Amino acid sequence: MVVYNLKRKKLMMVKDESPSDKFEFNKIYNMECVGGMKKVPAHSIDLVITDPPFAINFKAQRSNYNRTALRVLGGYAEIPQEKYYKFMLDWMKEVYRVLKESGSMYVFSGWNNLKDVLNALDELGFITVNHVIWKYQFGVVTKRKFVTSHYHCIYVCKNDEKRKFFPYSRFDKNSKHEKGGSLHYVDKEDVWYIKREYWNGDVKTPTKLPAEIIKKILMYSSEENDVVLDPFLGSGQVAVVSKMLNRQYIGFEIVKKYYEFANERLTNNIYRVKSEVLAANSEQTLLSLFDKKRTK
Ligand SMILES: C[S@@+](CC[C@H](N)C(=O)[O-])C[C@H]1O[C@@H](n2cnc3c(N)ncnc32)[C@H](O)[C@@H]1O
Repeated sequence: MVVYNLKRKKLMMVKDESPSDKFEFNKIYNMECVGGMKKVPAHSIDLVITDPPFAINFKAQRSNYNRTALRVLGGYAEIPQEKYYKFMLDWMKEVYRVLKESGSMYVFSGWNNLKDVLNALDELGFITVNHVIWKYQFGVVTKRKFVTSHYHCIYVCKNDEKRKFFPYSRFDKNSKHEKGGSLHYVDKEDVWYIKREYWNGDVKTPTKLPAEIIKKILMYSSEENDVVLDPFLGSGQVAVVSKMLNRQYIGFEIVKKYYEFANERLTNNIYRVKSEVLAANSEQTLLSLFDKKRTK
């Protein structure tokens, strides 16, 4: 790019630092997402699926839920409670800027800080389409209160007329379940019964979303080649499943170990990564869920 240098009083060539030169789709970045998203061009993203940090002093390397601490990558980056609302506003503001008019976002949240998530979405002008409940199996056993066994997923958009939604992408209009009811109706109810994935024996991060939930969102709210963003990648599930379904992806993760784990999955087209100890004694070290023909 040619610019006029005031000091030297002449035209000079400088390297073009425009955002599109720095950030490519079908890549993920090891960086803080608010700064990262500032370099993504406005109106370039079709769908955001994300699960931001919780602000509940989450102990990433705990070994409950059948997890052996050794195989759980530690270092999960948390946000202090008192900064949570401001942080929600900061990253959501960037999402609003990069989303297309036809775009939408699904934000996951536990109940602890849900009010901050909802207030920030309203404050920034997002339109709420649905408030989905994800019911999973096996909450943490309690003695003096009820067991938390659900998660919230807030589906929002910028423009309710223009947002994409494909109501028969998973079940035909006329398909029925065994008892005669409509399958697409049941699938579109706003309580989702989806099991968490337990990756026994494989390397994992502590908070990954099941592939099934991401697949469901992708099928209802995006098309092939659409660009899907996750500002908080963790294990990279959103990018990995997007790639599996022939969507483009981009995302950010601040913790290097998590970024490297997600990147390994994406560049090698593997879904689950065997821990080294197990891999040494195992014939099948990688479990590939990718259709190699489509991902090459
Ligand atoms: C709840 S986890 C996401 C889990 C992910 N959905 C998955 O399926 O693996 C939130 C992630 O955000 C990361 N994180 C926290 N603050 C961040 C920031 N400012 N920018 C980018 N990543 C951040 C954390 O390290 C953590 O991995």
